[in-house]
Amino acid sequence: MERTRFPRLSTARAESLLPGAAAARIPAAATADADLEAGRGPGSDFLGWVDLPRRMQGPPLEELLAAAESAREGAELLVVVGIGGSYLGTLAVAEALRDTAHGPGLRFAGTDLGAPGLARLLAELDGREFRICVVSKSGTTLEPAVAFRILRRLLIDRHGRDEAARRIVAVTDARRGALRDMAAAEGWTAFAIPDDVGGRFSVLSPVGLFPLAVAGFDVRGLLEGAAAAREACREADPEENPVLRYAATRHALLESGFTTEVLSTFHGDLGPLQEWWKQLFGESEGKDGRGVFPAACRFTTDLHSLGQYLQDGRRDLFETFLHVRSTGVDLTVPPADGGDGLGYLEGRSLDEINQKAYEGTLAAHVAGGVPVMTLELDALTAPSVGGLLYFFERAVAVSGRLLGVNPFDQPGVEAYKREMFRLLGRP
Ligand code: PA5
Repeated sequence: MERTRFPRLSTARAESLLPGAAAARIPAAATADADLEAGRGPGSDFLGWVDLPRRMQGPPLEELLAAAESAREGAELLVVVGIGGSYLGTLAVAEALRDTAHGPGLRFAGTDLGAPGLARLLAELDGREFRICVVSKSGTTLEPAVAFRILRRLLIDRHGRDEAARRIVAVTDARRGALRDMAAAEGWTAFAIPDDVGGRFSVLSPVGLFPLAVAGFDVRGLLEGAAAAREACREADPEENPVLRYAATRHALLESGFTTEVLSTFHGDLGPLQEWWKQLFGESEGKDGRGVFPAACRFTTDLHSLGQYLQDGRRDLFETFLHVRSTGVDLTVPPADGGDGLGYLEGRSLDEINQKAYEGTLAAHVAGGVPVMTLELDALTAPSVGGLLYFFERAVAVSGRLLGVNPFDQPGVEAYKREMFRLLGRP
């Protein structure tokens, strides 16, 4: 196993604006991090993710891979039904590693209550062999429950109840909830989400691993990368530990009035990973009137929409570039067939041009007074993505503890549900 799967972190450009402020917070960050390892502190019932990459390896992974193999047989598509932490990690990995899959295509449902998207999916499923992986820790969330009922009806109408049951896998609480009860009654294959792992920290549990394995992604590599990152966390000196440096720097920035973090990338396949990151940080930190607001930009696309604001707008945001050095795609600018003025780019790769766009943007934003950090990966591989997921999980846990909130609950999410259920007349 490769030892270090951390992204490379540079905080110097942010720290130069606040000399000493991040370094001063490293001891508190180290204490918060040690508490995570020792199972102490707010939300300590939900620390199962800390050692999950190692716990999932061995027999649990083999069992999951065997079930994935049989779910894949004859399937053209796998529909993942879930919302929030029950799908965002799966989609993030699937998109980041999209060129490495070799199984049924993944589709997603239950991610909202919009009729057009679900209707389009139903039309796409017409005449195609599909399986359902329904994911809900509570087993009662409205959006996936509604989509699942509609998709289940389609399977039952097409194949009958018994055959439909062979095409459904549930990932849910080990004992409680409507989904667990239905899985038992109908004989669906079911995987448990560990009690001590919350939704947004669950991508490396069966929540993400099962659908990703069915779709043919290297889930073993994903876990190995995450496990190596976990080891690196334990071994690093606090001053050198990128998790602590990232958490300490964003905390120092927040306390100096930088209340929004923009996670920017020049890699077109990281959009869903940014969405996963937004949920992870938004739900973990945004409580008790506190927290950094997580936003995301995809460049160079958004340089032509939000670039102006980033360069020149209100100076209350900081930016973290999530940069991938090589896409592995060899695409170059061909010889000219006319006067488009691009002679200086002839023969150069898109990766090189994109790299220069990144360097130029970074320099411009620094000059514009934006505190900037960079997180760099050499390439998107299963281990590097696993390490990145773990890095962010650990960082938000430390960061939430520095803020003084419980990073593992989400009491605010209940407010809209109460109002919606009242309006829908739920008994
Ligand atoms: O992070 C969380 O806990 C939430 O985003 C949940 O994942 C989301 O609300 C879905 O919940 P459930 O898996 O219970 O359907």
